[in-house]
Parts: sequence; C-alpha cells; structure tokens
Amino acid sequence: MGNQPKRILVTGGLGFIGSHTVVELQNDGYEVVIIDDLSNSKIEVLDGITAITNNKPEYHQIDLKNKQAVADFFANQKIDGVIHFAASKAVGESVEQPLKYYENNIATLVYVLQEMVKNKVNHFIFSSSCTVYGQADVLPITESAPTKPAESPYGNTKQIGEEIIAETTKVEELNAIALRYFNPIGAHESTEIGELPIGVPQNLIPFVTQTAAGIRETLSVFGDDYPTPDGTAVRDYIHVVDLAKAHIAALKRLLDKINVQKMEYFNVGTGKGSSVLDVIKAFEKSTGEKLNYKIVGRREGDITSAYANTTKANQVLGWKSALTLEDGLESAWKWQCKVKSQ
Ligand code: UD1
Repeated sequence: MGNQPKRILVTGGLGFIGSHTVVELQNDGYEVVIIDDLSNSKIEVLDGITAITNNKPEYHQIDLKNKQAVADFFANQKIDGVIHFAASKAVGESVEQPLKYYENNIATLVYVLQEMVKNKVNHFIFSSSCTVYGQADVLPITESAPTKPAESPYGNTKQIGEEIIAETTKVEELNAIALRYFNPIGAHESTEIGELPIGVPQNLIPFVTQTAAGIRETLSVFGDDYPTPDGTAVRDYIHVVDLAKAHIAALKRLLDKINVQKMEYFNVGTGKGSSVLDVIKAFEKSTGEKLNYKIVGRREGDITSAYANTTKANQVLGWKSALTLEDGLESAWKWQCKVKSQ
C-alpha cells in the first residue's frame, strides 16, 4: 500500500460475511465505505463493527437497484476497490421469486460495474459460491472443475455474475477476483457480530444453534442414505473470520497488480469435508450442549459432497484457513446465546 490508506467500498457490508470483512479491512489499515440497503441486515451491525475496531466505517443506506443513486455515489467518492457482497441468498426463495433474484443479484451487479468502469475504479472482488460446481465429479474440488447447470436461480446468479464480470474484464481496465465460498459458519470471537438469519434458518449451523437454544424443537438431518461414510451429506465449513481474511489477500493481489489474469477464481474453504453427523457431534463436544435431532428425507437440490482443494488459494493468494470446525461452532454458539439474551 502507498502512504494514503486505500478506500474500499464494501457493498452488503452489514451482512454476515460483509461485516466480518469490514472488520478485517479496518484492522489492516484500509478505509472502508459501506453500502447496505438493510433488506437482510440490521443497522446495529455498524455498532458491532465499531466496538471491535474502535473505528466507525462510513455508511450509506443505498439500494443498488437504484441506478441513479449508484451513479451519484460513485461520482462523489474516491474509491480504490470494491468488494461486492450485496445480494439475496435464500435458495428456496429464489425458486419462488426468480425475477427478484435476477434483479437483486444481476441488475445491481451491472450497475456497480458500469459505475466502476465510468469512474475508473479497477479492482473488484465478487462473492461467488461453490454452488457453481454442482455435484463435482472429482473431490476435493479444484478451480478448474467444470461448472454445472445451476440448481436454482440463486445459483444461476452466481454463475451469470462470474460471466458478466469476466466478459467486462476482457474489454475494460477492470481486474477482478471471484471467491468461491464453501460453507461459511461462525461469528467474530468478540460476539459483537455474527449471522442474523431472518425467520426459520435454511442453513445448517444457524438451525443447530437455534435448536440448542430451544428456539427450534428438533433439527432435521436431511438424508442418511448418501454414499458417504456415515450416509449424511458432506460439506466444507469455513470460519467466517478466515473467509473474511481471504478477501484481504485477494484485494492486496489486485491493488499490488500481481494478478496474472484479469479475472481470477479461488476456492475459499478448509479442504476438509464434514458430514452433517460430524457437525452435530463436533457441536455437542465443543459446547457441551445436547442436540435434539432426527433423520428425515433428503432435501431437494442437495448434493452429496463438496469440499475444496485449497492449493491455489494457499499458494497464489498466500491464504490458508486457520480456524477449525469446532472454533466455528463454538463461536456460533456464543453468538446465539448473546442474541437470544437480548
Ligand atoms: C446452501 C445452498 C448454497 C449456498 C449456501 C450458502 C442449497 C441447496 N444450497 O448450501 O447454494 O451457496 O447454502 O450458505 O440450499 N442440513 C440439514 N438440516 C438442516 C439444514 C441443512 O441436514 O436443517 C444439511 C444439508 O442437507 C446439507 C448441509 O446440512 O447437507 C449444509 O446445508 P446448508 O447449510 O443449507 O448449506 P448448503 O446446502 O451446502
């Protein structure tokens, strides 16, 4: 970095992964500007970030679907790079309301990229997902694994998003990195920020912690007849703080102009696969809580196994996950206890 701190726009900066990334950016000396429309986040997250870093980031409540508001924002700001989290992420909802997902996730991406190009902001990091691989033929999954037809409009927005960015980098000054997240879990150790699911959680870990907290009666384990060691599906659970740090590594790569392609892709996971029953056992062991669960049928659209080959991220980004599944579950539980007592 030069003498002037770099100013980074974080869209969706009050969301789960966004807020943890803002903390790491500030800890690393970056100046952060957050855009968030609060559609799936709370303004109090700003206080949580401030409590951890002693530094209140600049915040703008802007709906990125408002093209003019996006244009006005960029016209009035000096931004060195953008980390773009803002998107809707409920798979089931995306099946019910595909157009909402294409507008929220694709139209907004286009508006942000248009203003970046116009204002010569040339560094972009995109929240992608291991969902682009579908059920991969080879495990662990490398970045060169073929993408598979998306199972949902949500998944499709991640694939199309990557394509839109890649095509833009071919003809513009833009340089971009897509981070393909595996399954993010956990919370900041301070318990100032964490995941805030609205309504009944769809993802495993919030359902686990809410069940242990007595908010949900029973955790349903979706299927025990998968071709895996214990019959339950296998995923790569990555601690959100490790995931946040991957964004810093990717941003440095772009700002230092050491990327070798204009658009690059990295898996962000631990490299370790854990089954649903592994997660339940690890949760009970690391928290001492007993979990009420029952085996039910498979959930539609679920794949059998997905875990990352992280060699590229390790060697090229110089990033490696440091925290364990147990760390993630313990921090998620501490966060759940705090949220419940409020
Ligand atoms: C899901 C999305 C994925 C998205 C990711 C974001 C689907 C099909 N995929 O991934 O596109 O990028 O979230 O975080 O929704 N499970 C249970 N009981 C539960 C909840 C989950 O057994 O109550 C199981 C699932 O069957 C799966 C594992 O736990 O095997 C993880 O599920 P989840 O947290 O929803 O993540 P993914 O389905 O992997």
